[in-house]
Amino acid sequence: MKSFLFVCLGNICRSPTAEAVFKFQAKQAGYDFKVSSAGTGAWHEGEPPDERSIKAGMKRGYDFQGQISRKISQKDFLEYDYILAMDKSNYQDLIMMCPEYLVPKISLFLNFSTGSRLDEVPDPYYGGKDGFNDVLDLIEQASEGLILSLN
Ligand code: 4NP
Repeated sequence: MKSFLFVCLGNICRSPTAEAVFKFQAKQAGYDFKVSSAGTGAWHEGEPPDERSIKAGMKRGYDFQGQISRKISQKDFLEYDYILAMDKSNYQDLIMMCPEYLVPKISLFLNFSTGSRLDEVPDPYYGGKDGFNDVLDLIEQASEGLILSLN
């Protein structure tokens, strides 16, 4: 079974959204993958996703149940096949933490996007509620592209 880990800074906004969207799309495409998310930081460890992410995502039918913020660990680099960073800062932090031989597992998530010309999912935490819908648009397009790339 292929496995996917989505990573942002706090693991309360972008990567939980990516986890929910990718799980949904993978299931629709008939795949049974292991999918999870984590943060490069531990500030929100033990907390559920941001309620603004949950609200925006649930409007589009995504399920955030059971998600709890956690910091990425060394074990994750061994355990997951694909490690997908939401922005370049997350990507650089992951490269620094990861054993060198496992670095090829790490990608910028939006590099898989079928639509967006952006290469980062902007952090919505300090912005307005439109930011959460923009995050969803970007994540939906990148999830589609990632699934297509597996064929
Ligand atoms: P995320 O957003 O990385 O998409 O989960 C953030 C959440 C919290 C903070 C920063 C970004 N924070 O600084 O607490």
